[in-house]
Amino acid sequence: MKKILIGTHNKGKFKEISYLLPRKYKKITPISLKIKSPKETGKTFIANSNLKANFFSSFVDYPVISDDSGLCVKSLKNKPGVYSARLAKELGSFAKAMKYILKQLKNKKDRSAYFVCSLSFKRPGKKPVTVLGKLHGKISRKIVGKKGFGYDPIFIPNSHKKTFGEMNKYKKIKMDHRYLAFKKLKKKIRI
Ligand code: IMP
Repeated sequence: MKKILIGTHNKGKFKEISYLLPRKYKKITPISLKIKSPKETGKTFIANSNLKANFFSSFVDYPVISDDSGLCVKSLKNKPGVYSARLAKELGSFAKAMKYILKQLKNKKDRSAYFVCSLSFKRPGKKPVTVLGKLHGKISRKIVGKKGFGYDPIFIPNSHKKTFGEMNKYKKIKMDHRYLAFKKLKKKIRI
């Protein structure tokens, strides 16, 4: 069976990317290979997903897929953005990071936001192929739902009423920023 390394330590992302990939691949996690994550020194999502793909690829002789993603809130100058994971780490949890965002938005009219995913696919010895997926929506008034991961309980995608935290996981996986990026990737290369 062909192997692919899904370059992430985030269980939520691993599940979603696994679901998107064809069945022919045996999906490998860096945890099983005892590979730690690289430092995300890039200033953009694209720089970081490329950096991760190159880093993880140096350990294996089969393809690697990795992403860098985050939540951008318009009224907060598109923050937390590339710092989405770090904000939760600094504040102690995603619950605290979500509360922090809700508090920052308390007196703001514009609650629009988007999730973005830069997805990089790299074959051994080749440069990564990178695409960007964006999903627009808004920040809810409260934390709602226990499904999903990360900021899912405060994000309502456009033309929907429920947060990702309330949505059936397959419904979310088939519409989110990672899915949109994956669709673009499949148009560019054969996976
Ligand atoms: P990074 O790409 O490892 O820097 O982490 C991105 C962070 O963005 C994750 O830890 C989540 O907090 C957040 N994030 C990315 N995609 C999603 C999603 O689909 N739902 C909820 N949060 C997400």
